[in-house]
Amino acid sequence: MTQPKKTQATSPAEINERKDSARKRAMGEGGFDMPRHVAIIMDGNGRWAAARGLPRVEGHRRGVEALRKTVRAASDLGIAVLTIFSFSSENWSRPQSEIRDLLSLLRRFIRNDLADLHKSNVRVRIIGERSDLSSDIRGLLEEAEGLTHGNDGLTLVVAFNYGARQEIARAAGRLAVEVAQGRLSAEAITPELIARHLDAPDIPDPDVIIRTSGEQRLSNFLLWQAAYSELVFVPLNWPDFDRPALESAIAEFRRRERRFGGLIAQTGS
Ligand code: FPP
Repeated sequence: MTQPKKTQATSPAEINERKDSARKRAMGEGGFDMPRHVAIIMDGNGRWAAARGLPRVEGHRRGVEALRKTVRAASDLGIAVLTIFSFSSENWSRPQSEIRDLLSLLRRFIRNDLADLHKSNVRVRIIGERSDLSSDIRGLLEEAEGLTHGNDGLTLVVAFNYGARQEIARAAGRLAVEVAQGRLSAEAITPELIARHLDAPDIPDPDVIIRTSGEQRLSNFLLWQAAYSELVFVPLNWPDFDRPALESAIAEFRRRERRFGGLIAQTGS
């Protein structure tokens, strides 16, 4: 895979200047807080490639480049958590050759980008089912989490082999074991307790879920956590997503009135 030219600022002053100008661009008059947690369904790689007469894998490759730009932009904007849907439990039904391509892109992403992510103070977390992944992929995921464990910048949550119904079923299974062992009574099971048994219980629910490509559904992504998330659908295919697109999706989020089931309007996160 061709690596994009690294254009990262080199000095701390340059990095701070870039962050300040990104925040100012995204802030409305009077300023506002960024959403704490942005989640993205990166859709439309195949359509991006088809529109150009290219193989689907080229769309996925360009998708990785869009991902790099988005991680950097999210970090500059001061977003605390970025969750990306990189491979769903249902993606195994794709042709073997495409599955191989997606798995090798993940391997390359971790091998090539992990050091940069670590240098940028990004903490990598993984959600999804690991037990049925090959041991080399499991090892890479563990390496990414282990190396970046102490970082306190952007948390990048990679949803890999992830399905929300499966995640909820895993939580139910963990609770069932506790009930069976007599450590928990069935009556004590509350929504909060279920949330504490999900894959990343310490991560706040997403304030906004962005889906690219114009499709308007959640496709088994963060179904539990999305209860009060704002949904922003962007007509761009994922490989065309970039910093201005992220800023504009956040601006759309800011225009929403969040009520969380109550009457008092709250804006932003
Ligand atoms: C949806 O496009 C995208 C995916 C199924 C995978 C997303 C993967 C990447 C952006 C690259 C790999 C990520 C990592 C972390 C290595 P689609 O194929 O469903 O597009 P289509 O709906 O237009 O066919």
